[in-house]
Amino acid sequence: MLILGIETSCDETSCAVVKCENNRFFVLSNIISSQIKFHAPYGGVVPNLAARKHLQNILPVTKKALKKAGIVPNNLDFIAVTQGPGLIPALLVGTMAAKTFSYFWHKPLLGIHHIEGHIYANFIENKIENNLDEISKFEVSNSPVKFPLLCLVVSGGHTQLIDFSSPTEFDILGETLDDAIGEAFDKVASVLGLPYPGGPEIERVSEKGDSHAVTLPIPLEHDDSMNFSFAGLKTAVRTYVEKELPKQHETYKEFFVADVAASFQRVAFTHIAQKAEKALKQTGYKQLVVGGGVASSQRLTDILFSYFEEKEIKVELFVPNRKYCTDNASVIAGYASNLLEQE
Ligand code: KG4
Ligand code: ZN
Repeated sequence: MLILGIETSCDETSCAVVKCENNRFFVLSNIISSQIKFHAPYGGVVPNLAARKHLQNILPVTKKALKKAGIVPNNLDFIAVTQGPGLIPALLVGTMAAKTFSYFWHKPLLGIHHIEGHIYANFIENKIENNLDEISKFEVSNSPVKFPLLCLVVSGGHTQLIDFSSPTEFDILGETLDDAIGEAFDKVASVLGLPYPGGPEIERVSEKGDSHAVTLPIPLEHDDSMNFSFAGLKTAVRTYVEKELPKQHETYKEFFVADVAASFQRVAFTHIAQKAEKALKQTGYKQLVVGGGVASSQRLTDILFSYFEEKEIKVELFVPNRKYCTDNASVIAGYASNLLEQE
C-alpha cells in the first residue's frame, strides 16, 4: 500500500510517500519546505502569510515527494491530509490540494488529526530511555510501544497529557490553561532577543548557561490537577529580563541570556515532569510516549528521565527520532496506514 501524506497545518509545507507492507512501514520520501525565514521577522507564524506560502509550495513539494519515492500518482492507493487542528487558512490549502488530487487521480482521501500524527512519530522510529530493570538503558527500536499508555503532547499549539487505553480510545487528563509550551519557548526567546522559532534557540544558548542562576516559580506546583500553565512563568521571565538586562555590561549579556534561557528551560520541563508524574501515578501506566515539536529537545528527555529516576518512578520513556518530532507529512501518512491496516 502506497500513501501520499500532506501536512500544511502551520508553517511547514510537507508531502511524504510511505509504503506499508505486512505491517511494516517505510518512509520513501518526506519533503519539508519550511517557512521559518518568512515568519521570523514577526516573531511567530502569520496565518495568512503561511497560507500564501503553502499555495506556492504545495505543487512543487508534492512533485518532489513523488519523484523522490520513484512513483507516479497512479501508483498511489490513498491520500492522507492533516485536517486539523491548526491554522485554518493554512489547513485549507492542504485539504483543498488533497481533495483536488483525490478527485483527479481517483484515489480515496483520508483526513488525519494532526496530534495523532505527532504521537504516531513514535511508531516510526524512537529512542527509549527507561528505568525498568529488565530492559537495557538506551536502545533504538522500531515500535515496542504497547497500549494502554500515557501520552505527552508538547508542541507549538498543544500541551496535553492523554490516557490512551487503546489506539483509538483516549481521555485527556490535563492540558494547558493558557499558552502551549512551544508558544512559551517562542515568546521567551523573543524577550531574550533570540530568533523564531525559539525552542531550538533556547536549547542552544542554554548549553552555556547555569540552569539554577535565576529563581523562577514552577507553575501549578501545589495544584492537584494534571493541567499546565506557562503564562505566569513567561511573565516572570519578562519582568526579570526587563529589570536586570539593562544592568548587564555588554560583555556579559551573552552569559545573562544563557542563564535565563537555561533556568526557564529547566523550570518549564520540571513543570512537565511533575504533571506527568501525577498522570503516571493515577493511571499506573509504565510507558510514557512523547510527541510534538518540543519533543525534539534533548533537554526535555534528560529532565524527564532524571526526574523519574530521582523519584523512583518506573517508566519507559519513548521519544520520536528528532527528524519526526516537528511537523512533517510522513507521520500523517504513517498514521493513515495504521488506521487502514486496522480496518
Ligand atoms: O509540533 P510543531 O512542529 O508545530 C505545532 O504543531 O505547533 O512544534 C513547533 C514548536 C515551536 O514552538 C518550537 O519552538 C518548538 O516546537 N520546538 C522546541 C524545540 N524544537 C522545536 N521547543 C523546545 N526545544 C526544542 N529543541
Ligand atoms: Zn505540530
